[in-house]
Amino acid sequence: MKSVSTEPMGFRPQGTDDLVGQPARVAEALLRKARRLRQSPTSNLRVLLYGPPGVGKTTIAELVARELTDGQSICVEEANGKMVCAETVRLWMASLAHAGNLFGDWSVVLVNEVDRASRDAQDLLLSYLDKMPAGRAFLATSNLDLSALTDRFQSRFQAIRLEAPTTDEIAGFLRDRWRIAADVAARIAVGSGGNVRAALLDLQTFLDAGEPAPKPAKNHNRNGDRRHARRSRV
Ligand SMILES: Nc1ncnc2c1ncn2[C@@H]1O[C@H](COP(=O)(O)OP(=O)(O)OP(=O)(O)O)[C@@H](O)[C@H]1O
Ligand SMILES: [Mg+2]
Repeated sequence: MKSVSTEPMGFRPQGTDDLVGQPARVAEALLRKARRLRQSPTSNLRVLLYGPPGVGKTTIAELVARELTDGQSICVEEANGKMVCAETVRLWMASLAHAGNLFGDWSVVLVNEVDRASRDAQDLLLSYLDKMPAGRAFLATSNLDLSALTDRFQSRFQAIRLEAPTTDEIAGFLRDRWRIAADVAARIAVGSGGNVRAALLDLQTFLDAGEPAPKPAKNHNRNGDRRHARRSRV
């Protein structure tokens, strides 16, 4: 069981209520669809979430994977595109021969930064996506615009662009969750440039500089790894 944390750096959205801005609305729609498909796996699911960094692409892909598999993490394979080579995709293709799996109806492959997969892997992925039966999901994320992916590749996905939350949305989110002063929240939000991860890092720096412990409005789960170290702009 994960411990509960009030630290901004440890904040991991557990559902749509934890997300801010347009990504929250995208998540709502996708999770609704995932719930429907879980009950009746009549088709496969191929979704590409793309857009600027730190707006919730990976988070939403993971929430959808969790919804589809009813929380059975063993049914979800997560990889970074950089590590995906032709051999990886061949193994995925071989696994398509088995209907369902021992643990549930859905199997999910989630690839972050799919644009970083080798060209050979992307080519093979075309056949993989074409052959995916019902009950299989391929969820991908990318920081790049769609034009960076081959036409053939992008046309096999339902491609959804995530927009950065507005400055007001981020400021409101920080104020509601951590009860910080409005001027501090506004300053952090402006400095974040729409990157929520960056805003949380700056808030952490601000709080670490000696503010009293934050009082969250809700409980948040902790999962402490960070990928980017940034200089505070607060
Ligand atoms: N829309 C959002 N609402 C609330 N928190 C968010 C949102 N987007 C990002 N975060 C916070 O930032 C963290 C990182 O988000 P995530 O990894 O999903 O972003 P990303 O879009 O995949 O970024 P990248 O392009 O760098 O991979 C989340 O764990 C969460 O703490
Ligand atoms: Mg990501």
